[in-house]
Amino acid sequence: MTNDYQVKDIGLAAEGKKQLDWAEAHMPVLRLLRERVAKEKPLSGQRIAGCLHVTKETGILVRTLAAAGAELAWSGCNPLSTQDEVAAALAAEGFRIYAWHGMGTREFYECIDRTLEIRPTLTLDDGADLIFRIHDKRPDLIPGVLGGSEETTTGVHRLRAMAKAGALRYPIVAVNDSETKWDFDNVYGTGQSSIDGILRATSVLLAGKTFVVAGYGHCGRGCAMRARGMGSNVLVTEVKATAALKAALEGFGVATMDEAAKVGDIFITATGMRDVITGRHFAAMKDGAIVCNTGHYDVEVAIKELEKLAKGKREIRPNCEEYEMGDGRRIYVLAQGRLVNLAAAEGHPSEVMDMSFANQLRAMILLAKEGRTMARAVHVLPEEIDQEIAGHKLVSMGLALDSLTKEQIAYRDAYSEGT
Ligand code: ADE
Repeated sequence: MTNDYQVKDIGLAAEGKKQLDWAEAHMPVLRLLRERVAKEKPLSGQRIAGCLHVTKETGILVRTLAAAGAELAWSGCNPLSTQDEVAAALAAEGFRIYAWHGMGTREFYECIDRTLEIRPTLTLDDGADLIFRIHDKRPDLIPGVLGGSEETTTGVHRLRAMAKAGALRYPIVAVNDSETKWDFDNVYGTGQSSIDGILRATSVLLAGKTFVVAGYGHCGRGCAMRARGMGSNVLVTEVKATAALKAALEGFGVATMDEAAKVGDIFITATGMRDVITGRHFAAMKDGAIVCNTGHYDVEVAIKELEKLAKGKREIRPNCEEYEMGDGRRIYVLAQGRLVNLAAAEGHPSEVMDMSFANQLRAMILLAKEGRTMARAVHVLPEEIDQEIAGHKLVSMGLALDSLTKEQIAYRDAYSEGT
C-alpha cells in the first residue's frame, strides 16, 4: 500500500469506485480467477510495471494481480484513454497509478518512468512503449526482468521485429495471439466500442451512410460488421489480397482509398499502418465527412496534412474537431486521430476484456514461473489456457458444452478408418 500516485483529482475516487463495481460485476472470469490466486499467491514477490489504458476493466485486472501477490506500478498507454475517476479510485485503494486524461507526450514518458521506480520483475504492456522504454533508457533494469506481456496486435508486430533483429532482451508473451483475445476483443470489442466512440462524438445516423473501413484484420472486420448492423453501406480498403477477398465474400464493397475518399461519409482506420488517410484523400472528401482511427497509434490519419489544407478548425463537440477547407467543405476528425473507442467512449465492454485480462493474468503467472528459462522471443500461451478461459466464460453465460465419448476420441485419433 502506498499513497504514491499522480492522477487528475483524487476527489473522483467515489465515482471511480462505482465504475469499478460495475466492471467487476461484468467480469466473471476474472472474479473466479481472483478467488483462486488469492489463495495460491502465484505472483508473490513479483513487481509488475504496467502500461495499459487505465479504464474500469483495467482496474479489475490491477486488483486481480494484487490479489495474486504482486506489487504494482501503473501508467496509461495512451494520453487520451485514462478514465480519471477510475485512476483516482485505484490510487485511493493504495495502488501506484500515474495517469490522467489529456497528458502530453513528455508527461506520458515521465509516468512510464515513475512505474520503473519499483524495479519491475515483470512488465505488462499495451503497445510495447514500456518495453521499448526499458530497452532504450533503462537497460540496467533488464537483468531483473523475468519477462513481459503484450496486449495488442501493433505491439506484437513490433516485438516480433525486435526479436528477429536480435534486439529483444527478455521473453514476451503475446497475449494478443491467444484465441480468447484476438477472436473476441479485437472483433466484437473493437467493433462495438468504435461505433460507440463515433456515436458519442457525433451522434450522427449511421443508417444509409457510406462507412469506409481501412483494414480488414480482426478489428476492421468488427467495425465493418457492426456498421453494417446499424444500416451503413460498408466499403473496405485493403493492401492484402486475401483480406480484401474475405471482405468481398462477406458482402462488403472493396475499393482503394482514392476511390473510397470520394464517396465515404464516415471513415475509420484499423490498419496499424501510418499515412492511410492523407492530404490527397482529404482533398477528395465530401463536405461533412467524418474521419477517425481505432488503431493503437495516432499515425493512420495524417492530420498534419489536413491542417495544411484547412483554413481553420474548431472543436464543435467534445472529441470532434471541424476543419474548414479552403473551398468551404468541412471535415470532422474525432479524438485527434487517436483511438476513437477509448478516447471518445469507454473502450471495449467489460465482458470482452474479462477474457483478454484473464490471459494477461495467466501470462504473468507463466513468466513468473518460467520466464528465467524462456527464450528471448515472442511466445504464445498454450491452447489449454484458451480452452479453460473460454470454458469459464461459457459457464458464466449459463451455456454448456457436449463432450466426446471414448469411441469418438478413438475415432478422432485414429488414421486407419476411411470410407
Ligand atoms: N483496450 C480496449 N478496450 C479496453 C478497455 N476497456 N480497457 C483496457 N484496455 C482496453
